Amino acid sequence: MTVNPPIQKKKGSLNIDAPLHVSGKTTYLDDMPELAGTLYAKVCYSKIAHGHIRSIDTSEASALPGVVRIIGHEDIPGVNQIGGIIADEVLLAEDEVHFIGMPIVIIVAEDEVTAHKARELIRVEIVEKPVVVDPLEAHRCKEYLSKPLHFQMGDVDSAFAGSDYVIEGNTESGGQEHVYLETQGAYAIPRSNDSMIVYSSTQGPTAVQRTVARLLGLSMNQIEVDVNRIGGGFGGKEDQASAWGAVVALAAYLVQRPVKYILERGEDLQMTGKRHPYKSNYKIGLSKDGMIRAFAARFFQNGGAAADLSPAVLQRTLFHATNSYFIPNVDVWAYPCKTNLPPNTAFRGFGGPQGMFVIEAAIHHAARQMNMPVHLIQERNLLYEGAEFSYGQKAEDCEAQSCWYQAKERYDLSARMERIKAYNASNPISKKGLALMPVCFGISFTNTMMNNARALVHVYSDGSVGISTGAVEMGQGVSSKMIQVATSAFGIDTDAIKLETTNTTRVANTSPSAASATADLNGKALQDACRQILERLVDLLRKHWGVENEVEVIFENNGVHTSNYSKNMPWKELINLAFRKRINLSAKGHFATPRIHFDTKTSKGHPFAYHVYGTAILTCTVDCLRGNYEFDAVEIVHDFGASMNKAVDLGQIEGGLAQGIGWMTLEELIYDEQGRLKSGNLANYKIPDIYSVPKEVKVHYLEAEGVDLAILKSKAVGEPPLMYGIGAYFALYNAILAFNKVATLPYSAPMTTEKVLMGLYGKR
Ligand code: MTE
Ligand code: HPA
Ligand code: MOS
Repeated sequence: MTVNPPIQKKKGSLNIDAPLHVSGKTTYLDDMPELAGTLYAKVCYSKIAHGHIRSIDTSEASALPGVVRIIGHEDIPGVNQIGGIIADEVLLAEDEVHFIGMPIVIIVAEDEVTAHKARELIRVEIVEKPVVVDPLEAHRCKEYLSKPLHFQMGDVDSAFAGSDYVIEGNTESGGQEHVYLETQGAYAIPRSNDSMIVYSSTQGPTAVQRTVARLLGLSMNQIEVDVNRIGGGFGGKEDQASAWGAVVALAAYLVQRPVKYILERGEDLQMTGKRHPYKSNYKIGLSKDGMIRAFAARFFQNGGAAADLSPAVLQRTLFHATNSYFIPNVDVWAYPCKTNLPPNTAFRGFGGPQGMFVIEAAIHHAARQMNMPVHLIQERNLLYEGAEFSYGQKAEDCEAQSCWYQAKERYDLSARMERIKAYNASNPISKKGLALMPVCFGISFTNTMMNNARALVHVYSDGSVGISTGAVEMGQGVSSKMIQVATSAFGIDTDAIKLETTNTTRVANTSPSAASATADLNGKALQDACRQILERLVDLLRKHWGVENEVEVIFENNGVHTSNYSKNMPWKELINLAFRKRINLSAKGHFATPRIHFDTKTSKGHPFAYHVYGTAILTCTVDCLRGNYEFDAVEIVHDFGASMNKAVDLGQIEGGLAQGIGWMTLEELIYDEQGRLKSGNLANYKIPDIYSVPKEVKVHYLEAEGVDLAILKSKAVGEPPLMYGIGAYFALYNAILAFNKVATLPYSAPMTTEKVLMGLYGKR
């Protein structure tokens, strides 16, 4: 897929998991050896999107040999509640069902096949009620999951009145299925004294712990959640892994045997929430020269049947409603609409991409109306140092312009545009299109409270080190980064460090691995723990060597020495000495992001530790007979700060970009009016593959110093690149316009082949 300069193979800066992954040795939840006596759970879920349960007949299923127990909501010893932000979601249906895929009862059986057969024998009678799938319909009835949100700066009314152009329109962006390679699942093992260990494929071990404790009526200290790694999460396991942990824990608690449930792909697609589809409208006011004076928008989020993370996702839509632009007058509203779909949830970008799509559509629309190049309007309005966002924070270390201009220069934008013009002039049935996509993404959990982490470090008496943090490895490379942090602190080789599983008993009260902030938060907590041990060692050495405080003690190359090299000692010898001197060789570190704050009443504050910037140039070719298309190239200048691991970070850019292009072009979630998912398998829900990714991807590392709140000045990288994919929509749109100048294609993503064809041959 890519042509990039070879990565410098600096020791310790590769992905430590790569050899395991490519040799197939990586172990996931389902690879764990099972205990004798393990049972298997399966959920029987609603086939109706909204209705009243009249009866549930489990008699035939119960009689099936091998069925151990069938569990309903009345069997729950604690509270039948799994809502994360708002307590509005039951684990098992009581009187009503609210979406297709809503769990009704749990079957526990000796093997999976029996559980499957038993499910087919369960009869649920449901009296159907009206189904709502459209967020606008929910909005008309004021059916919201939480309060609508409003961000505002300046005075849009007078700014619109003073604008030369005022343009209004509507947009739509579709949902997106996470398609993590490893489906949702969990394995619970009961222990003595009403306690339980739960192995879970989750981004949020503490969320699973809290949910299980509440459901079982136990306290959190009775539940231990352990995560070795997960095979992808992409936000889908930030909150929604908790339900499956709860299902197996409940079953294990009631039958007092280990219980496991790994969802089949089809079950996962049916039952779990996805990226929120949005319908939005916008109004943008500009002066003749292309300066944006005002922007107003209304975002209607399709939240599904329960709140899940929707309120937080909704807020991030508003944070990113003006993307990488300074707009002096902003008025944006967002509505969390309640519908009869599975509760939608976090997905890479967390509502940000949905917000950015709208401002980019508004600018595209304005450019057409004003007969001005899109990129000129984009460029004129880019953020600058000190520019204020609608939420009160000011842009600091702003790299919006440097990324943009470097991308233009490095990839020779004007020559490329000339080539495209010439190509389009000489090719009647094949057209090329280009779009620039600047991105500005805020780093920190939007909920200030969540921006903290802890780590536990043990130095063993032989000099080897064990580290535990709250970070979950999901393919994003955070394990490599944690090991690098410890390596750089102690000055010892990677081989001497072992990263332990993520476990709620070792590291408590963790935030989920999410918001792209996992390495920053957990890495800083880890640094804090390492620092404490190092301070004790330095104290010991000063006494032992009799050196003054002015002389620096340096840890490097598996040893320690004074700055003048008069004294030195190998690491192992030092640890042996410290052990004999009864020094504490363990430490617990803590980090809470300083400075950030946000007032939810005024919607003003300083919510983000920093912003990540970048610009992508996307080029595509459209086959104007068939509507097929391909992406010729994507060229990016990205602000990594001072990347601590270029191999891992490049992987994040490539993966995020592919996922973003998929969302904007191929991936189409279709629900019918009865709330049935029509694209419920991977044959009719198309995700990007090696044939659809861009032929060429170039990534340039912006020369930047980085910021102190980023771990080792290496900025968060997980989510921002997804939003480069938004440019794919507009590149295709521009190719269509090269064929059909008067195409009136609605701003409706994804831009599937069908939509391209309609655009090519629509109104002319
Ligand atoms: N990369 C891989 N390979 N797998 C994933 O599940 N999740 C993304 C991103 N990159 C993900 C990924 C999402 S949604 C987030 S928030 C971040 O990684 C989380 O990890 P980080 O905080 O360490 O960046
Ligand atoms: N990102 C991801 N997850 C979150 C956030 C966020 O900003 N806020 C709360 N949960
Ligand atoms: Mo990512 S959507 O914050 O898990």
